[in-house]
Amino acid sequence: MKKEDSTTLFISKLIFFSFLQFLTSFSVSYSSTFPYEALPTKSGYLPISPTSTSSIFYTFYEAQNSTSPLSQTPLLIWLQGGPGCSSMVGNFYELGPYLVTNSLTLQPNPGAWNRIFGLVFLDNPIGTGFSVASTPQEIPADQTAVAEHLFAAITRFVQLDPVFKHRPIYITGESYAGKYIPAIGYYILEKNTKLKNTERVNLAGVAIGNGLTDPVTQMVTHADNAYYAGLINQRQKNELEKLQLEAVELVERRNWSEATDARSRVLDLLQNMTGFATLYDYSRKVPYEDWMVAQFLNIAEVKKALGVNVDESFVYEKCSKIVWAALHADLMKSVKYMVGKLLKEKMRVLLYQGQRDLRVGVVQVEAWVKTMKWEWIEDFVNAERKIWKVNGEVAGYVQKWKSLTNVVVLGGGHLLPADQPLNSQAMIEDWVLEKGLFGSVSDRNDVSRNSVYDG
Ligand SMILES: *[C@@H]1O[C@H](CO)[C@@H](O)[C@H](O)[C@H]1NC(C)=O
Ligand SMILES: *[C@@H]1O[C@H](CO)[C@@H](O)[C@H](O)[C@H]1NC(C)=O
Ligand SMILES: *[C@@H]1O[C@H](CO)[C@@H](O)[C@H](O)[C@H]1NC(C)=O
Repeated sequence: MKKEDSTTLFISKLIFFSFLQFLTSFSVSYSSTFPYEALPTKSGYLPISPTSTSSIFYTFYEAQNSTSPLSQTPLLIWLQGGPGCSSMVGNFYELGPYLVTNSLTLQPNPGAWNRIFGLVFLDNPIGTGFSVASTPQEIPADQTAVAEHLFAAITRFVQLDPVFKHRPIYITGESYAGKYIPAIGYYILEKNTKLKNTERVNLAGVAIGNGLTDPVTQMVTHADNAYYAGLINQRQKNELEKLQLEAVELVERRNWSEATDARSRVLDLLQNMTGFATLYDYSRKVPYEDWMVAQFLNIAEVKKALGVNVDESFVYEKCSKIVWAALHADLMKSVKYMVGKLLKEKMRVLLYQGQRDLRVGVVQVEAWVKTMKWEWIEDFVNAERKIWKVNGEVAGYVQKWKSLTNVVVLGGGHLLPADQPLNSQAMIEDWVLEKGLFGSVSDRNDVSRNSVYDG
């Protein structure tokens, strides 16, 4: 404890002096600004093609305490949403091994997702975070282009170390990554059929948190959701429905960019009506404080510690407006069929939602999932929604049929791992390892297991 306090003090002094441009007079090593134990196991750049200088920045954290030989330990890949938001937000604000505090220091995260799995953060697509886009034109404008780049980056990553070669890969992420994740999963399935066994990406499953996947179906639920949650009255509901309809009509005319703006107006109006600090978590008095990540990552020593290779004038941004603009017209396009394809191929799919999210929450996911084309969808919809407990307390609800699992997590919003570190860690670990309610036992047996597990 004492050691931490003096480190904190030292770092705040350090920041103060750097403002006074005395930084050069210090021989600062990474271990002061960025404790040695918080350094990524590896970090750097993954080229997206042999003919381009564009590359995807990554940080990798090996499992802290793997329960299997490293060569078999699952690898989780995390993708932030946006479009255009940096996975360093996930790394330093949500699920990485060390999180940034509002005094811009790092502290260990007890809910880290690399406790027993390897964890890779990718700044995706190029142009996002520390990733490099050699030209703005090269930034993807659709999910196929996103997937091509991701595929190149993932295969390159796996080649970095022989220990990665056979490890099962789980692609995870949140929000707009609800589109990236199905897209890269689908792309890997297609690509794998054309590759030799040894060249295939060893995809084992995908996990999507508070995901935007089938945007139209999801958007038209806002008025009802807010009304039945008691947040708006009938007249306001009608107003919201009118805006929702405008967005739907623009999609029907395939006026995609305008439709994206129309969706934003729906959410703006809902925001105005509720008066909440943020729709990402209705219980918050102030929005998520992920701005800290950008402040921290703009400290020169931090960039150095992470192996970021940019000139002094480069300003790290949490979310890139250029990438947002490039994917603006893509936003309302559905990738639902890709999730259907993943399930058809028996790929494991986890959907989870922090329950307090009013933008892409429980109702918005329930709405699209039940319309998915998958031979078992009716069984899934009719499957029991089980009470999920962690350490004897209700943590949420789990609904599962074959390889599809949906989890509602209580006490959290859009950035769920930030709100529920331990429960989100329990969720991802149990899902990957197929334990407890996330297990693959037959559904009849699940019922009796449930009471045991609950105990
Ligand atoms: C790692 O595992 C050992 C043995 O199971 C345990 O005692 C220890 O607390 C674990 N450490 C972490 C960081 O989880
Ligand atoms: C479609 O969007 C364009 C701008 O991108 C706009 O000029 C046009 O009027 C829109 N068309 C319809 C039918 O809404
Ligand atoms: C929400 O409120 C702001 C500020 O009053 C206003 O500028 C904006 O037009 C409102 N948005 C909608 C969709 O009504």
